[in-house]
Amino acid sequence: MPRFLLSVSVMNPFEQQAPVEGIKKIILVGSGKGGVGKSTVTVNLAKKLQQKGHKVGLLDADIYGPSIPRMLGAINQKPEVDENNKILPIQRQGIKIMSMGFMVPENQALVWRGPMLFKAIDQFFRDVKWGELDFLIIDLPPGTGDVALTIAQKVPIDGAIVVTTPQNMSLSDAKKALDMFDRVNAKVLGVIENMSYLRVDGQDEPVQLFPKGELEVFLKSKNLKKIAEIPFHPHVGLASESGIPMVESYPDSPESLAFEQLAQSLV
Ligand SMILES: Nc1ncnc2c1ncn2[C@@H]1O[C@H](COP(=O)(O)OP(=O)(O)OP(=O)(O)O)[C@@H](O)[C@H]1O
Ligand SMILES: [Mg+2]
Repeated sequence: MPRFLLSVSVMNPFEQQAPVEGIKKIILVGSGKGGVGKSTVTVNLAKKLQQKGHKVGLLDADIYGPSIPRMLGAINQKPEVDENNKILPIQRQGIKIMSMGFMVPENQALVWRGPMLFKAIDQFFRDVKWGELDFLIIDLPPGTGDVALTIAQKVPIDGAIVVTTPQNMSLSDAKKALDMFDRVNAKVLGVIENMSYLRVDGQDEPVQLFPKGELEVFLKSKNLKKIAEIPFHPHVGLASESGIPMVESYPDSPESLAFEQLAQSLV
């Protein structure tokens, strides 16, 4: 066998993987499809866990379209660097946050090749002073590209959550995300159905904003769990815009209750 083929066949893509000191659990939130609510889930899950007394960090790994700074009221923040050249995460809502949004102005596009991305993700883990964390929740970009693979190669993943909306259009992309997590040995904790339905005052039946697809059947066939159903509600979007997580500003809403149950089952 030619030499290079031999070396490829024995190469372990996860050999660089090393735990991050101080971080107990690393959880990925991904989807496949864009705009289904990954960042919303990440922010509210992180806040719920923090409300329950856990030490929580949030890594916005959506390098090309970071939305966590806005969702947590931290736009235009610049992290400081300590005497050991470690980057100090920005703190909001008792959560330690790191995002490419802190490094690049909001209206500036990031035009990067793979190796730069690889380096940036490595820095997010090794050069950020996360301190002691019970959970680091990572908000992934849409799709099944470089970022998730790079993260899986760098750090051990304790669990992955897939977010989808009810219709088959989103499910078909969610299946790809599930397959990706499988390939990188990330245990899937379950699937979240976001924007499941909308309750309208004075109407008994919920409104199905998106037609129900084959999610239930698919999950059953794969032995996967639906770990939360989050209704659609305008205050979820409002909370994202205002920079205060919905579970904080509307704590008694059914949407917050869904996150309460999610956080509980995760713990
Ligand atoms: N349950 C919900 N009810 C109402 N609005 C919601 C709900 N979930 C998410 N949204 C809104 O939908 C939009 C998209 O959500 P979000 O940014 O979390 O999706 P995403 O999957 O992270 O998107 P991207 O793929 O671009 O990263 C946001 O404006 C958010 O506030
Ligand atoms: Mg997002």
